[in-house]
Amino acid sequence: MNLLREFYLSLLVILLLVCGFLYQFNLKSSSLFTYLYSYKPQQGLEAVLSQGRSIVFLETSDRTKPSPLASCAVESAAQVYPERPVVLLMKGLNNSTQLPSNLSDPAFSFFSEIGNVYFFPLDMKRLFEDTPLFSWFAHVNVSAQSNWLHVSSDACRLAIIWKYGGIYMDTDVISIRPIPEQNFLAAQSSRYSSNGVFGFLPQHPFLWACMENFVEHYDSNIWGNQGPDLMTRMLKIWCTLTDFQEVSDLRCSNLSFLHPQRFYPISYIEWMRYFEVWDTDPSFSNSYALHLWNYMNQKHKTVVKGSNTLVENLYRKYCPRTYRDLIKGPEVSATREMGTGEK
Ligand SMILES: *[C@@H]1O[C@H](CO)[C@@H](O)[C@H](O)[C@H]1NC(C)=O
Ligand SMILES: *[C@@H]1O[C@H](CO)[C@@H](O)[C@H](O)[C@H]1NC(C)=O
Ligand SMILES: *[C@@H]1O[C@H](CO)[C@@H](O)[C@H](O)[C@H]1NC(C)=O
Ligand SMILES: *[C@@H]1O[C@H](CO)[C@@H](O)[C@H](O)[C@H]1NC(C)=O
Ligand SMILES: *[C@@H]1O[C@H](CO)[C@@H](O)[C@H](O)[C@H]1NC(C)=O
Repeated sequence: MNLLREFYLSLLVILLLVCGFLYQFNLKSSSLFTYLYSYKPQQGLEAVLSQGRSIVFLETSDRTKPSPLASCAVESAAQVYPERPVVLLMKGLNNSTQLPSNLSDPAFSFFSEIGNVYFFPLDMKRLFEDTPLFSWFAHVNVSAQSNWLHVSSDACRLAIIWKYGGIYMDTDVISIRPIPEQNFLAAQSSRYSSNGVFGFLPQHPFLWACMENFVEHYDSNIWGNQGPDLMTRMLKIWCTLTDFQEVSDLRCSNLSFLHPQRFYPISYIEWMRYFEVWDTDPSFSNSYALHLWNYMNQKHKTVVKGSNTLVENLYRKYCPRTYRDLIKGPEVSATREMGTGEK
């Protein structure tokens, strides 16, 4: 009698285990489905972005695969913001046959393990519709512009965050913890804003004013005139800027001007420090993300396997899949591959 009861009990346990397994399997296949679905262009950029909570990266060059550093930026954001869509818009993906539906392509394959990453073509004309940038874009002679890759990227980021809201990041920004702000600009130094990271709720009037100012004072020959200089000009109109006290942020009306420590704990003059070995790696406890200043990296410094440089350790920790991919192959330039969303 007891034996029979034990038999039934074990049967029950086995049944439960099988159910659990099936349930897990189901979860796995459903997330795989989400992933496959996320790569279908039909799902639409609008549907993803209109949630208003996206983390947006841009690539305005013609490349069709993210560089290792861009891949690290995207992966780290996906890890830090698991509940939000992480979107990479690439101008080079203007042909549906190039879309990364091909899972065996190493440039995209590991994103299959991440459910919240989306790739889309970047259609500038469409993006600028219903913004002050539209008529500017219609009339600008692209081949005559200096710094077009950067200038067009500056314009796109304003339009996309104005339209949909969310956070824009350059493709050389490694996320380490969530940004607890909705409307913010990032200080690069005292009284000077970057445009490498910023976030706003949809249709925020600050960004509309930025787009108007962009067109009004457009001059592609002046480096940064449409980028950090623009943000700083507008911020000075919007707020009374003071120096930072300690490591606290500044607030004015409903936007925050975040302390340089939040994204630029290593300033651009010291960018090489990322490629050095530190006695003890810094904890970056006052930072939300790290801007790697790829633009400064004219010497094509790379992540070298086993070098124990700060950048290698950052990859290991914040973008382990990118790192794994990188060390599988021969030594690869982790950074320099003439990108655009990188300054
Ligand atoms: C896609 O972009 C490339 C490079 O900008 C260009 O040469 C090509 O004509 C474009 N194709 C389409 C279909 O727009
Ligand atoms: C898209 O890319 C494919 C493969 O590279 C090519 O065969 C096709 O002609 C391209 N289509 C357009 C419209 O550029
Ligand atoms: C998918 O990508 C791999 C690696 O780049 C390539 O060898 C293969 O031909 C591609 N398959 C298709 C169907 O495009
Ligand atoms: C655009 O600029 C290029 C280079 O300066 C020039 O050759 C071309 O004529 C310009 N096109 C127009 C329509 O002005
Ligand atoms: C933020 O401030 C601007 C200007 O004062 C205002 O127009 C906008 O509605 C405010 N947004 C929110 C969400 O409070």
